[in-house]
Amino acid sequence: MDRIRIVGGNELNGRIPISGAKNAALPLMIAALLTDDTLTLENVPHLADVEQLTRILGNHGVDYSVNGRRESQQEGYSRTINLSARNIVDTTAPYDLVSKMRASFWVIGPLIARMREARVSLPGGCAIGTRPVDLFIDGLQALGAELDVDRGYIIASAPKGLVGNRYVFPKVSVGATHVLMMAASLARGETVLENAAREPEVVNLADCLNKMGARIEGAGTSTIVIQGVEGLSGARHRVIPDRIETGTYAMAVAMTGGDVLLEGARTDLLETALSVLSDAGAEISTEQRGIRVKRNGNGIKPVDVTTEPFPGFPTDLQAQFMGLMTMAQGRSQITETIFENRFMHVQELARLGAHISLSGQTATVDGVATLKGAQVMATDLRASVSLVIAGLAAEGETTVNRVYHLDRGFERLEEKLSGCGAVIERISA
Ligand code: UD1
Repeated sequence: MDRIRIVGGNELNGRIPISGAKNAALPLMIAALLTDDTLTLENVPHLADVEQLTRILGNHGVDYSVNGRRESQQEGYSRTINLSARNIVDTTAPYDLVSKMRASFWVIGPLIARMREARVSLPGGCAIGTRPVDLFIDGLQALGAELDVDRGYIIASAPKGLVGNRYVFPKVSVGATHVLMMAASLARGETVLENAAREPEVVNLADCLNKMGARIEGAGTSTIVIQGVEGLSGARHRVIPDRIETGTYAMAVAMTGGDVLLEGARTDLLETALSVLSDAGAEISTEQRGIRVKRNGNGIKPVDVTTEPFPGFPTDLQAQFMGLMTMAQGRSQITETIFENRFMHVQELARLGAHISLSGQTATVDGVATLKGAQVMATDLRASVSLVIAGLAAEGETTVNRVYHLDRGFERLEEKLSGCGAVIERISA
């Protein structure tokens, strides 16, 4: 398995291009199942999760090409892809494909809406808590689907099609909001989703669905109203910049010091995280080409953070922020409210010399003057990258083992960081 070797201690200076958002690209790709026309998506990041989803969509019969060519002919940064679900040949999403990535479960929404049936394996994905699917089941049932769980699969059917309804999410869920928005687009009549997720990725999906002919209002607020339509057409749509990648590199700069322009990044996608970072002592400015992050001379100040659904501080930046706080001048508390088991990076950060104690869902971090390089193990996607940025700031050499998690969510990580002066390389197994 590949490893990443880092020699820490260098400031980051220069520019980092921000890729298209993985968490926006995945639901947008799944939306291709709603139409027999071609959906063209621009700025799709080149990531293992995207590749995995193309395999899952391919299994349903979706034809996939990159810039008009087959995928294997293209390598590199975010690309334009074409997806055509003219012929859906299979409404089953099998275990061996779905178990590798939780978001692939979301095909259940478009399949039940367009094909009136779906058989989808219960999901896998990052090991960060139990991550049930009860909200998907309840929500689709509210739209008239019949659902059963049988031998690890959800069997869904709606022989007469879905029917619009009012559904109040008992808990904010990004995935269930995506799925119900897609399903309701092809339901008969009006659907009102309350306590919906307000994440920018939900807005990006709603904009695309509206270009395809859907009638969705209110995305980005907690009440989304959808008037069902008979069919959807193709469209061309752009994936928003990755706010988690943006926040991750911003935290890396805050940690190592330096001056980096995050090209293409959008402040409005992560205002809370940026304001926390400036409280911690980073200088953040919005420029025409992106967001500039600087930290020169002054130390890192401790800041308490609680993760929340958007527009709160994102859980997907919690591990990285904890990395930053390990070198703060004092004590900070980080509380995780979204996932119950998202502190696996704590013991690995401790290997680098961090002082962190855990009590329930709160981590208390006592900043240390220096971290020292060590061998660490990547556990989930965001935890892995927190170890990378801690390694960049640590004295000496850090090796991050099991980096396949990083490839799921960070496009050309080593290249982007070494372009700014980091000493980082991949050691292939
Ligand atoms: C998405 C993101 C993930 C991010 C998360 C929260 C993608 C591909 N992934 O994941 O990076 O960390 O949002 O911002 O976009 N829940 C239930 N029942 C359900 C569904 C969810 O209890 O049926 C719970 C989850 O266990 C979790 C909480 O709701 O505690 C939020 O999860 P959710 O917003 O659904 O996360 P994902 O959409 O899976």
